[in-house]
Amino acid sequence: MRYPFRTRLEWRKWVVPELLRERPVHRWLVFPHSFTDDIIRALAKEWDLGAQDNILDPFAGAGTTVLAAKQLGIPATGCDLSPLATLASGVKVARHDADSLARCWHKLEKRIKVRDANGEAKAYSDLVRTALPGKKLATFHGAKAAIADLDASDSAKAFFSLALLGQIQKYSNAVPTGGWLSWRPNRRPAARLRADLADTVEGMLTDLRGISEPVNHRWTARVADARSLPLKDGSVSAIITSPPYPNRHDYTRVFGVELMFGFLDWDGTRSLRYQMMHSHPEARPNRPPSQGYSEPRLITDAIRRVARHNERERLVAMLHGYFLDLYLSLREMARALRAGGKAALVLGNAQYDGVPIEVDKATALIGRHAGLRCTEIRVVRQRGNSAQQMKLHGRAPARESVVMFVKDE
Ligand SMILES: C[S@@+](CC[C@H](N)C(=O)[O-])C[C@H]1O[C@@H](n2cnc3c(N)ncnc32)[C@H](O)[C@@H]1O
Repeated sequence: MRYPFRTRLEWRKWVVPELLRERPVHRWLVFPHSFTDDIIRALAKEWDLGAQDNILDPFAGAGTTVLAAKQLGIPATGCDLSPLATLASGVKVARHDADSLARCWHKLEKRIKVRDANGEAKAYSDLVRTALPGKKLATFHGAKAAIADLDASDSAKAFFSLALLGQIQKYSNAVPTGGWLSWRPNRRPAARLRADLADTVEGMLTDLRGISEPVNHRWTARVADARSLPLKDGSVSAIITSPPYPNRHDYTRVFGVELMFGFLDWDGTRSLRYQMMHSHPEARPNRPPSQGYSEPRLITDAIRRVARHNERERLVAMLHGYFLDLYLSLREMARALRAGGKAALVLGNAQYDGVPIEVDKATALIGRHAGLRCTEIRVVRQRGNSAQQMKLHGRAPARESVVMFVKDE
């Protein structure tokens, strides 16, 4: 196959989240692996999408696609396995009434108090207890209980829950670094929580007051597996998404404190870890049947070379599993897409022991087996390898690309 490469380095700032941190509503929660809403605007224009269309993001993350679609007036659905991701996406696209939220906050604020540890820690995992020791966890727990007790709609409670979850990293001893958590003592006192939460809620209300709500409300976010989407055949007109990259980052660890404070116990978090796409070595997902899949030669050869360098069985299993998961997700995307519909997947190549894993090329090939024809591999960024890898294997940048498909009529 001749790969339809095209370089568009002016898109490079759009595949990293920095710009989102300044943007109203998007900034309510940004993931370190989010792309920016510029991608959605550019593709919606290029594909001429409008109110009669609907966009799907099967790996919705912090909800960039669904929110950008809402801002453009294009209906959209986001799915993600993580309840933190669907909370963030759902709150960002929900219809809110800023005045009634302000009234709720007025009542809630009085109930955010520093609390002495009083046995509530027992309900939480070791990770949460170590990340937020003593008064911190008691104070966060008290705020969570006060939100649950509010005499308000579920959507208002979700709004304040997101604001509260967004405070955790300011107080936590656990710091996300790349794909992992590292530990450093955090001296921010629990007594600051009320003021921090007030700042965040104020900022969120300011964002809400600055936007006009569309009349129809057709934006949703739900917990679902991209390998078996709860959507009818041919029901979406476009897909814009970014699956996890095969870089070993485990989102259930990076967001472990938020997940186990807000949603899941230890077992639930472990099940989520297992079920996630096989982009990290601990995944062991239950998958739908995979008939129709054959691993591209370029991937089989690359994995063989990685395996020759070392005996890391779990890495090898991860790489095989990752491309199988890509196939299963692409097959679902092809099923959900209407004939003539278009899809764009933002993806990053990886590198292990100096061996390039060309995710973009493999995705183009796998898409064909799944029922999608690759029209372009838009190269938008070249990421440098780590200093350690560079020393061992020389400079070898890895492409980050937008792989574009059409479902032929
Ligand atoms: C690269 S992130 C998406 C970021 C998103 N584009 C944004 O702007 O925030 C990938 C997402 O895929 C989700 N994920 C992993 N495995 C999944 C699966 N099997 N089905 C659905 N979502 C999954 C993760 O929870 C994560 O939020």
